[in-house]
Amino acid sequence: MGLIPDNVIDEVLTRADIESVVGRYVQLKRQGSNMWGLCPFHSEKTASFSVNPSKNIFKCFGCGKGGNAINFIMEIEHMSYPEAIRYLGGLYGVEIPETGYSGDSVQKDAKNRVKEILKEAAKFYYKSFNDPVVGQPARDYAAKRSLTKVTLDNFGIGYSPMSWNALYDLLKGKGYKDEELLNSGIFKNSPKTNQPYDIFRGRLMFPIFDSFGTIIAFGGRALGDEKPKYINSPDSLVYNKQNHLYAMNFARKEQSKQLIVVEGYMDAIAMHAAGFKNTVAALGTSFTDSQLKLCARHAKEEIVFFFDADNAGQNAAIRAIKMMMEYLRKLTGINIRIRIAKVPDGKDPDEFIRQNGAEKFKEVVRNALYVEDYLLDRAKNDNTDSETGALDRGRYQEDICLYGSWMNDDIKMSRMAGVAAPLLGATQQAVMSQMVKFRQIEDKKQADLDSRNLERARREDIVHRNETEAFEDVPDPSVPEEVVPEQPAFKKVNDSATSEEIELFAYALSMGSALADKKLLDKTDIIRPDDFSGDTIRELVRIFLNIFDGRNETLFAKMSDYFSKLTINGQPAEDVMLRAVESADKSPDVNVKRDMYLALLFKVREAIIAREEERLLNMRGSSDDAGKQKIDDMLRKLSDYKQSLRKKIGDL
Ligand code: CTP
Ligand code: MN
Repeated sequence: MGLIPDNVIDEVLTRADIESVVGRYVQLKRQGSNMWGLCPFHSEKTASFSVNPSKNIFKCFGCGKGGNAINFIMEIEHMSYPEAIRYLGGLYGVEIPETGYSGDSVQKDAKNRVKEILKEAAKFYYKSFNDPVVGQPARDYAAKRSLTKVTLDNFGIGYSPMSWNALYDLLKGKGYKDEELLNSGIFKNSPKTNQPYDIFRGRLMFPIFDSFGTIIAFGGRALGDEKPKYINSPDSLVYNKQNHLYAMNFARKEQSKQLIVVEGYMDAIAMHAAGFKNTVAALGTSFTDSQLKLCARHAKEEIVFFFDADNAGQNAAIRAIKMMMEYLRKLTGINIRIRIAKVPDGKDPDEFIRQNGAEKFKEVVRNALYVEDYLLDRAKNDNTDSETGALDRGRYQEDICLYGSWMNDDIKMSRMAGVAAPLLGATQQAVMSQMVKFRQIEDKKQADLDSRNLERARREDIVHRNETEAFEDVPDPSVPEEVVPEQPAFKKVNDSATSEEIELFAYALSMGSALADKKLLDKTDIIRPDDFSGDTIRELVRIFLNIFDGRNETLFAKMSDYFSKLTINGQPAEDVMLRAVESADKSPDVNVKRDMYLALLFKVREAIIAREEERLLNMRGSSDDAGKQKIDDMLRKLSDYKQSLRKKIGDL
């Protein structure tokens, strides 16, 4: 097991300010330079638990517990040190590099090769750009777009020459195999020659970096009007467009209170050049849920969104606001202001800055509307007849009530109601209570859906358990009933999962029907809830096994309802699992997938078996003869199973 680098831990501690970390669990009151609350680790009636925001630590003068944000999470969530770091990393938007373990070394090597290839490619594009002859058209284009040498170099911008194979030949010469080159996403196989060729030709090349500055993909812009304007390299072992924001590697270093989000490559670059280094780009108009969550995690106080002035851009704004507000309503203790900026005359930020300069653009950012004001304007403008100027009151009312119901606090809601009321000829109170009703109807729909799903899952679970003992051959590692330690009546949901567990589950989902293929796997090798340690992932596995009928190929889609309600290690379960499944899906064939799956299963089960053996051995001493025999029996079964697993892995 590798270690999480110190600088990453520092980053986590810088971002995860103690006040907000503790604030999720403890109600704190300021008194002098410290904050005080009731200690969550021992029971007390007067506050002896203190938080010191300037030193970024907590200390309880009652029970003596104290430390930094990581220590706090370890204590309260019962996590190990690395688990707590990952958990906080998820909450505060710090990417924790994979530390890896032997099971995924194949995958890890493949990823590293792809990263090397992309780095070589970036060097090649950069060289071509600066080549006196080859790079001339690209340099002319860059000059036309006012890109300075400093900016070009900062963003690593290059040029892909007009050739089908210049890059391919170069990398082949350096010893990369076709399969590795295809993995990188910047080559495609030609059906005619059955050989990879360069997909980027004659384009201005933008390397896409991860949050740590490693190149994970490319975008290429046409130098003229040829279509498509942009080509982006596809999702790969190292790149997932859905979860990515361009320029975050720079923006995250700013530690700015504000995060600015724009649509395009050139907008982000122009804004950085103009001094707005807290800008990221979504690279397209339709924001994904995970991009928005990423924004929320990275923004300290406020997010300013820029959307295109056209219809598509403005519709995207409404969709993004809805998602964002839904997410913010769920978070307690984090309050981020959402603002929507508008560039005058329907320009994009890049065009505006080029024509009017950075100073004027500052005003544009300053004038960004608060989300409630933006929605008030939208409701009015969308429902006003452009010729007569008449307001369609019925529709206006509907829009206002809907938008109002999205708000995450009463003040915003009340403010919207106050502005809308005179236009509706109603009282502010009436409008507000209608908004609340809207919210209740929506919430009720959601709650009904949740409980129906849960009910169904429970029913199916019982039927399933009675019907088949699907895993009768597997020794049950649980202890005999009479010695099960008593569970506390009320238990907090534990949403933790190790990276092995997440990947194991992901491979199971990815294998789909192959999981039931007897030629590939024994029945005993199908995952079971008690292979997993956290409540949430166990529940998800249980649901998975209920839905799984040995034929189903759309398991992930079927489960996404459940995924979307839950978290794993504090992150949305859907994001966590989607990422893991996508990575599992990249395995070239089902046999490779099976091998990976078994290796992970072995890791996970070996640890469980070891723990169970220890427990049984401890119990054996105080058991009567019958009990001892039972325990010996179980120990033997465990040992046999471990041997069989080991053999299977050895055979791989
Ligand atoms: N985009 C894309 N593929 C396209 C068009 C657009 O991937 N065919 C993405 C790019 O990331 C682009 C963003 O969507 O930057 C916004 O598109 P658009 O507004 O059309 O382009 P601009 O960013 O204005 O591009 P430019 O200024 O270079 O013309
Ligand atoms: Mn543009």
